[in-house]
Amino acid sequence: MRALVAGEVGEPNDVLRLESRPVPTPEAGQALIRVKATPIHASDLHVLRGRYGFSPEFPTVGGHMECVGRIEALGPGTEGLKIGERVVAVAVPAVPGPRVAGTWQEYLVADIHTLLPVPDRLSDSSACQLAVNPLTALLLVARELDVQPGEWLLQTAAGSTVGRLVIQLARHLGIRTINVVRRRDAVEEIKAFGGDEVICTEDEDLLQRVTEIAGPAGVRKATDCVAGPVGAQVSQALAPGGEVVVYGALSTHRQTDPAALTIPLQARSVIYETKVVRGFWLNRWFGTASPTDAMRALSEVRSLVADQVLSIPQGQPFPLERFAEAIAFAETPAHGAKPLLVLEDGRDRGDE
Ligand SMILES: NC(=O)c1ccc[n+]([C@@H]2O[C@H](COP(=O)([O-])OP(=O)(O)OC[C@H]3O[C@@H](n4cnc5c(N)ncnc54)[C@H](OP(=O)(O)O)[C@@H]3O)[C@@H](O)[C@H]2O)c1
Repeated sequence: MRALVAGEVGEPNDVLRLESRPVPTPEAGQALIRVKATPIHASDLHVLRGRYGFSPEFPTVGGHMECVGRIEALGPGTEGLKIGERVVAVAVPAVPGPRVAGTWQEYLVADIHTLLPVPDRLSDSSACQLAVNPLTALLLVARELDVQPGEWLLQTAAGSTVGRLVIQLARHLGIRTINVVRRRDAVEEIKAFGGDEVICTEDEDLLQRVTEIAGPAGVRKATDCVAGPVGAQVSQALAPGGEVVVYGALSTHRQTDPAALTIPLQARSVIYETKVVRGFWLNRWFGTASPTDAMRALSEVRSLVADQVLSIPQGQPFPLERFAEAIAFAETPAHGAKPLLVLEDGRDRGDE
């Protein structure tokens, strides 16, 4: 079978090679999955560059997040799932937790507790992106911040996949969103998508606009995945006692200067206004959630997507052998769709 393997830490397109490897054999409690589609997330590229929160042992098969495929075989005595069943393999390594197989390969072996059956009416594009970003959106809004109907939620990078899912979930739950984008041409798109208010950092003052929108009471809850000066402005825009959950650091992605990797906070505001800035990382959530709770949350996400409350933006398919093109696409500003590596025939009919 073909596998996309990185021999060492480095620039993804320098270190990744297509290799031929034997198809693995599932042991008791495991399933062999024939992979159909798997996304290229920014975090997958961080892992290869050695800039993520965990590091696999190299050489490593790329793709440390998720994929969709069918169960081809089960380990001895393994029950609960059937051969031929279509499943999402959640390949997010729990921290702390055991190693898991990378998804950028034609077959992988996974613990059956990490497999979520998905109906055929969900497209490959939606199914292979079900476990990471929609789950993150749900956990941020409903659990980490417990945003209530009628409350404001301020979020950055609103045009990202997570940002769009947060907007949809917020509308479903009656939450009002203030959405920060970096490009003027994204503003109308986010409004049309259902964002209540949009702030464009290209030509607007974030703090001033939040005050205008939310009034003197301010915003008590925020999410940020940009960090740097934008993350700092979000913390300043919070009402006293407010809380921002930082879950990404997009502005730091290609930076090497340590000063560029910070979120410069105003000490006085953190102390005297008792603001809270804290992190969220799905890997650590999987490391602390019980398998039952993790599966419950994933099932909730599956229902939200199947019921079309959440619509996952359609990915851009690339056959596995065109991985270099897919990675270059992933790193192009304003590329829109998420690149997906597709295996087998690569066709995707869309959600039905
Ligand atoms: N902590 C966790 O467990 C967790 C889980 C899931 C995702 N994440 C993180 O969440 C973030 C979003 O992921 P995604 O998959 O939803 O992203 P995505 O779909 O690939 O979209 C990236 C978005 O970020 C915007 N962006 C890129 N660089 C930016 C910058 N320097 N300043 C402002 N905006 C910027 C892009 O805007 P343009 O359209 O203008 O290019 C685009 O809208 C990533 O940082 C990811 O690692 C974290």
